[in-house]
Amino acid sequence: MNVLGIETSCDETSVAIISNGNVLSNLVASQDIHKIYGGVVPELSSRAHLQMILPLLKKAIQEAKISINDIDVVAVTAGPGLIGALLVGLTFAKGLSYSLNKPFIPVNHIEGHIFSGFLMKEKPEFPFLCLVVSGGHTLLLYVENDLKIKKLGSTIDDAAGEAFDKVSKLLGLGYPGGPLIQKYAENGSETNIKFPVAKLKSEYDFSFSGVKTSVLRFIQKEFGENKISENDLANISFAFQNSIVDALTEKVELALKNYKVKSISLVGGVAANKALREKLNDISKKNNVSFIAPALEYCGDNGAMIAYRGQKLFEAGLKYDLNYNAYPGLLNNTFII
Ligand code: KG4
Ligand code: ZN
Repeated sequence: MNVLGIETSCDETSVAIISNGNVLSNLVASQDIHKIYGGVVPELSSRAHLQMILPLLKKAIQEAKISINDIDVVAVTAGPGLIGALLVGLTFAKGLSYSLNKPFIPVNHIEGHIFSGFLMKEKPEFPFLCLVVSGGHTLLLYVENDLKIKKLGSTIDDAAGEAFDKVSKLLGLGYPGGPLIQKYAENGSETNIKFPVAKLKSEYDFSFSGVKTSVLRFIQKEFGENKISENDLANISFAFQNSIVDALTEKVELALKNYKVKSISLVGGVAANKALREKLNDISKKNNVSFIAPALEYCGDNGAMIAYRGQKLFEAGLKYDLNYNAYPGLLNNTFII
């Protein structure tokens, strides 16, 4: 079975084709235009998706070495995301599904991330803990099976990726912030610079707005209007990254004490972070569970994860008609336990 996956929820246009779970093609066009604004401009994003989506589909089919009529299912991100951006993918997918007379499957973007570890050779085993860390979301989940997910906690303010992006902006490093902070942090080391890990009443929730404010205060106090040296940028990045990694991993460790699982899966854009991957890998080894984080091309937004999730929903017998506009998904709806 060939499944087409289309993703246009934010600033990446992606089209992928998977065949029985194997990725035949996964093309991602990142929109560089937003860099000059230091964040995603929704209207520009919609326009760029419109320009890219058809050429990407043609190339994805070519790379997969199939014809358009060999597509059996059309899966597309239906939310959450930027509404104008989502509409480009959704209407495109509906048109394609109608003209090919093949099923249309709307997919929740976060669910796409949650199961992205299954695109790897070594896959998560149910039940598993899933840490979803992206630009818009931070969630800790207990995933019992394909259709049963329990939310343990989430951020009460900024998402982890958002914190990376905002601190990067404060430091004048650029956008997106995660990879840039990681690069600087690699040249940093342990100093007396420390940023706090938020302590919350609800045991599995996260908060990242405090650490951002404390970086801001630190910069104002230590440097005022002066330029921050490369060395200081490296040490601040190192300390900031550590505090985010600690905040995320301490909740995973707590969940491991209370939930019996076989794997830990780390997914979403921030899953590309090396320090976070290494620490979770260590924790997994200590707890005798497997650790699965997708390859970098499946951490950020991509069509392959949407195709994979679409295939599972299709196999589960879920049917959607072309009037369907928003797929609330497991996280907001019926299956959550
Ligand atoms: O999942 P994603 O591609 O888009 C959303 O659905 O939000 O995640 C993007 C986020 C951005 O905030 C970006 O700064 C962050 O992932 N990110 C990273 C790294 N690479 C990307 N954060 C930390 N370390 C990285 N290496
Ligand atoms: Zn995402």
